[in-house]
Parts: sequence; C-alpha cells; structure tokens
Amino acid sequence: MSQRSCLSVILAAGEGTRMKSAMPKVLHPIAGLPMVTHVVKAAEAAGSGDLALVIGHGAEEMRKAAAKFAPKAATFVQEKRLGTAHAVLAARDAISRGYDDILVMFGDTPLIDPDALSVARRKLAEGAAVVVVGFRTPNPSGYGRLIERGGKLVAIREEKDCSEEEKKITFCNGGLMAVAGGQALKLLEAVGNKNAKGEYYLTDIVEIAGMQGLVVVATQASFENALGINNRAELAEAEGIWQTRRRRQAMLDGVTLIVPETVFFSHDTEIGADTVVEPNVWFGPGVKIATGAKIHAFSHIEGATIASNCDIGPFARLRPGADLKQKAKVGNFCEVKQATIEEGAKVNHLTYIGDARVGAGANIGAGTITCNYDGYSKFFTDIGEGAFVGSNSSLVAPVTIGKGGYIASGSVITESVPNDALAFGRARQRTLPGKGKELRERFASAAAAKKK
Ligand code: UD1
Ligand code: MG
Repeated sequence: MSQRSCLSVILAAGEGTRMKSAMPKVLHPIAGLPMVTHVVKAAEAAGSGDLALVIGHGAEEMRKAAAKFAPKAATFVQEKRLGTAHAVLAARDAISRGYDDILVMFGDTPLIDPDALSVARRKLAEGAAVVVVGFRTPNPSGYGRLIERGGKLVAIREEKDCSEEEKKITFCNGGLMAVAGGQALKLLEAVGNKNAKGEYYLTDIVEIAGMQGLVVVATQASFENALGINNRAELAEAEGIWQTRRRRQAMLDGVTLIVPETVFFSHDTEIGADTVVEPNVWFGPGVKIATGAKIHAFSHIEGATIASNCDIGPFARLRPGADLKQKAKVGNFCEVKQATIEEGAKVNHLTYIGDARVGAGANIGAGTITCNYDGYSKFFTDIGEGAFVGSNSSLVAPVTIGKGGYIASGSVITESVPNDALAFGRARQRTLPGKGKELRERFASAAAAKKK
C-alpha cells in the first residue's frame, strides 16, 4: 500500500457558531493541540503524504495556524458553504494532480483512528472506487444512514431525506471516506443539490458510483471516529476520550497512575517506566520524564525535562525550561522556570528558582527567591555545586554563589559569593534585656488610659 500515492482532503470551512468563539472551531485544542492537528496526524499515520485543507470561515487565521500545525498542507478556500461535495471540490487543483487514493476527513472530528483510514485505503487497493467508514449506534439521529441492499452499500441518506423506515437504520456514516483518485473528480462533479437542505452532498457519490457499476464498500469502525465537535460540551467529551486512551497507554508502558482519571496529559508528554504519578497532576506541553520519577499530588508541569528518580511536589510548579537532572528534588510550593537543577540538588519548600542553575548536591532552604527580574530584563543566578542557601534568602541576580558557598538565613545577596565562603546579607541582631516586658507594660497602660 505504501507505494500508492494518497491525498487527504480535510474539510474545515464550517463556521462552528455553536462554539460561541472568536476562534475558528477546528483550532480549539484537544490535549493542547488544535483539533484539526489530530486529524492531520491521523492522515499522516495512515501514510497520506499530501494534505489539502479546505477553509472558509476565519480563513486568514486558519492559514496562519496551518503554517504551524500542517506546514505541508495546501489550503483552499471554499467561498460559499454549499455542502460537503462542494467543499471537496474546492481542492480540485490538488485532486487533479493525480493520486491513487483520496481520503476525505472532517477537521472537527479529532479522534479518527489511523487504522480505520488504513483499512479504507486497503479496500481501494483491492479495487473499490468508494469506501465509507461507518459505525453503529443505538442513537443514529442526525447522521447519514447507510442504505444496504443484498449486503452491499447502495446509498447514504441524510437524516432530513430519510423515510420513516430508513430512519430506523443504525448503521451510519462516520464522515470518513476514501475515493479512488482516478474516479474522484468525475463522481464529485456528478453530485447535484436536489435534497432537503439544497446542498451538494459528498455522500451522494455512493449512489452515483453504484449506478456506474463501480465497487462501493462500507467498513465499520468505532463511534469515536465519527465524534464531531460542535460545542464545548462535545469538546470536553472528546478531550475525556483522548485522556482515557493516553492514561491507559501510559499504564501499559509501565507508569503507575494511582488515580488515572485525575491525571491530565498533553499530546506530547513523554513519561518513562516506573514513574509514579499521584492524583491530580497536570502535564502541559513539552514535558519529558525519564524512568523512576515520583510526581506527587497536585503538581503542575509544563515544558520541563525530568531525569530519572527525581522527586517532584506535592504542589510543585515546573514551568518551561525547568531541567531537572537525576535525583533532583523540587518540593511543595516551589516554582522552577528556565533553570537547571543538577544531580541530587534539593529545592524543597516554598521557593522560586527562575533563570538559574542550582549545582549538584546544593541545598536551597525554604523561602529562597531568585530575584531574576527588575521589571525590564531577566538576569541569571548561578549556584555552585554543594552550596547551601539558608532559608528566606533573596538572591538578587545577576549573582553567583560559588561551589560550597554558604548563605546565612534571611540574607539578601547582591554580590557574588566565592567558593566555600560564608555570606551574611542581613542586619546584625540586637537583643535588649528586659526591654520586651517594659514595652508591653507601656502599651497596656496606654490602652487602659484610652478606655477611661
Ligand atoms: C455529515 C455527513 C453525514 C454524516 C455526518 C457525520 C454529508 C452530506 N453528510 O453530515 O452523512 O453522518 O457528517 O458527522 O456529508 N463542511 C465544509 N463545507 C461545507 C459543508 C461542510 O467545509 O460546505 C465541513 C464542515 O465544516 C464539517 C464537515 O464538512 O467539518 C461536515 O459538515 P456537517 O455540516 O457537519 O455535516 P453533517 O450534517 O454533520
Ligand atoms: Mg456534523
């Protein structure tokens, strides 16, 4: 099959009014990735080298976005939304370049299984002219029904054009279709618009192909292949299905998820075996975790690289550029951004480490802040190997703490500290014997005088 050339036409010209959004519907994310990107990925996984994206509503924004999520895709504008066959024909220039296989998909149907596409392509290779990927549902309302005669697919009838008898059919059109490249334009051009909606229906090519004696086949795939997103409730439903699949995959790959339904992955999360993820953990994009890490409850992690056997959280926030080497620890209420925490270093409590390096084995006391920003620019803090930073210290960047440097608690460090030096950056303590009692008595008598 791989030798056969394939073009995927992805329809995304719809307005998506029910999303009630300023953003085109197909750009709303699932697992942090525009839903149409999931469709693009499925097409690519099924071996479709070339992509044609049919856009209409929000064409400018779509073009800009497509340059990122599908740089290889050619975009075509469907000026008027006259139906799915009309939309496919907007990509006529791409189709007429000549392909063995044409796949048609909807940009708002993000959970497409690449295997369903591969099966459809195989049917084309076996001689079918049109392949419809169907699904069965006890609740077929709103879907086109697959009309079969003698076990053969003869037509697809849209709900609005169905007879009462036909409405009872539970085998439905999921929206995925494969068409033999050599037949595609001829079939599409034969489609008319004499139906209840007055639209050019892609689904009509089934009947047209049958009448021309071409082979038409229906395959069956799961409902998820047909799950179209029209509003934000359906968006959340699709997200839920995606997450459930991803969690299962993580567990099969050797990751322990104690309460899987409370862990949220991103489309690109990489997570190694023997890592344990406690409940209520969020992974944003760009997270890579090696083996044997512990991610404690309520941690929020994005753009971070975590080496093996690190210990994170509970309640840790790792932001983009956090780079934790082996056995590093980032504990409760700590935030790390654009910083390397080297092997075995500990940042255990209530700390902000931003634009910094924490050397191997260093210990950062509770409440330490790297003051990295002056309101205009960011500056770097370099903390040497084995350094000790006492609790409640502010390290005002740019600043360097040398190897083995020791910072007294409560210091404000504005000048670099050499290797193995001890630095105090706070006022010396004064203790006045008996003065506490004296003060209390003075305040008490002042308060009593006021009451009188
Ligand atoms: C379509 C199918 C129906 C199937 C259902 C599955 C047709 C005629 N009907 O119906 O058999 O059961 O999907 O969800 O194909 N679009 C354009 N331009 C247009 C029209 C549509 O780009 O002129 C795009 C839409 O943005 C959408 C997709 O095509 O992504 C499907 O259109 P939609 O109106 O949702 O079709 P359905 O009525 O759901
Ligand atoms: Mg639809």
